[in-house]
Amino acid sequence: MTTTVQAIRIDAYGGPEALKRVELPVGEPGPGEIRIRHHACGLNFIDVYQRTGLYQNPLPLTLGMEAAGIVEAVGEGVAHLKAGDRAAYASNPPGAYSEARVMPAKCVVKLPDGIAFETAAGMMLKGLTAQYLLKKTLPQGGLQSGDFVLFHAAAGGVGLIACQWARALGLQLIGTAGSDEKCRLALEHGAAHAINYRTEDFAARVKEITGGKGVKVVYDSIGKDTFERSLDCLRPFGLMASFGNASGPVPPFAIASLGPRGSLYVTRTTLFTHIATRESTQAMADELFAVVQSGAVKIRIDQRYPLADAAQAHRDLEARKTTGSSVLMP
Ligand SMILES: NC(=O)c1ccc[n+]([C@@H]2O[C@H](COP(=O)([O-])OP(=O)(O)OC[C@H]3O[C@@H](n4cnc5c(N)ncnc54)[C@H](OP(=O)(O)O)[C@@H]3O)[C@@H](O)[C@H]2O)c1
Repeated sequence: MTTTVQAIRIDAYGGPEALKRVELPVGEPGPGEIRIRHHACGLNFIDVYQRTGLYQNPLPLTLGMEAAGIVEAVGEGVAHLKAGDRAAYASNPPGAYSEARVMPAKCVVKLPDGIAFETAAGMMLKGLTAQYLLKKTLPQGGLQSGDFVLFHAAAGGVGLIACQWARALGLQLIGTAGSDEKCRLALEHGAAHAINYRTEDFAARVKEITGGKGVKVVYDSIGKDTFERSLDCLRPFGLMASFGNASGPVPPFAIASLGPRGSLYVTRTTLFTHIATRESTQAMADELFAVVQSGAVKIRIDQRYPLADAAQAHRDLEARKTTGSSVLMP
C-alpha cells in the first residue's frame, strides 16, 4: 500500500526559501523498518546546517531529525515496536518534516503514556544530547557535585534541558545567552550563574565566578565566535567539548596552544555516535524519560508552527528569536 503525505523538502541548498512543500509517496516498511505517522516534529539547529549545505546529504532532502507519533506498520525483524504504539525518535537519516515516513526502527523508542507527543518532539534530539554531554562527555576524573561547567546558548533548546539536568546532578552550570531576558530564563531553569555574552566578556566573568580557577568542561555549540575564548575558561586538564557551529564552523586552531593553557583536552562530539545502536538509544532514552517524568527536567515548547511554516521557524531560529524547544505540527 502506498499513500501520499505532505512534507517539507529542499531540492538545492539555500536560505529558508529553499524549503518547499511537496507531496511524497510513503510505502510499506521493509525489513528492520517502521512506518510512523507524526503528531509533532522537532525543530533543531542541525536542520539549518543541512538546509544550507554546511552538513551535506543527498538531494532532494526532506529535513528533520526528531518527531513523535504512532507506529502504523512494522517490517520484518522489528520486535520492540508494533502497529498502534506511541513512539518517538531522534535520528538519521533526516525526514521528520512530514506527515508520515518509513524509517529504520532501531532509532525509534516507545513513548511512555505520560509524555505528550509535542513534548517528545521537543526533547528527543535535544534531551539525548544533554544526556550524553553531561553524563558521558566528561573530564578526567569525571564531574562531581559542586563542579563548575560552562554551557553556551543556555536558554536554547538543548540549553534549557542542560540547565535543569545539571542542577539535578548537583553541578554549577554557568550559562551564556544573548540577552538579559534569556539569562533570566537560564537562571530560572537551574543555571547557577548566567552571562550575557553579547555585552560581557564571558571568559573574564567565568574566571571571576570560579575564583580564578576556571571550569572543568566547556560545552560549546556556538563554534566560530566562542571557541578560542572558551579555551581560556578551562582549568588545567579541562575538557573543551565542541558540539555545534551556530555562529559558523570552528576555524583551524593551534593544537600546541593547548599545552600552555593547561594541558587541555578537546573533543568534537555528535549524538549520532552515541545512538548508533538500539541498545544505547534505549538506555539513553530511558534516562531522559525518567528525568522528565520525575519533574526534574521540564520541556518548554516556546514556539509552535504549522509544518507548512517551517521556513518561518528556520528564520526565527537563525535570528536567535527562539527560546527552549520549537515544534512543527503536521
Ligand atoms: N553535536 C551534537 O550532538 C548536537 C546535538 C544537538 C544540538 N547540537 C547543537 O547544539 C546547539 C543548540 O541546538 P538547538 O537546536 O537547541 O538550538 P538553540 O540553542 O535553540 O538555538 C541556537 C542558539 O545559538 C545561539 N547563537 C549564538 N550565536 C548565534 C548565531 N550567530 N546564529 C544563530 N544562533 C546563535 C542563540 O542563542 P543566544 O541568543 O542566547 O546566543 C540561538 O538561540 C546547535 O549549535 C546545535 O547544532 C549539537
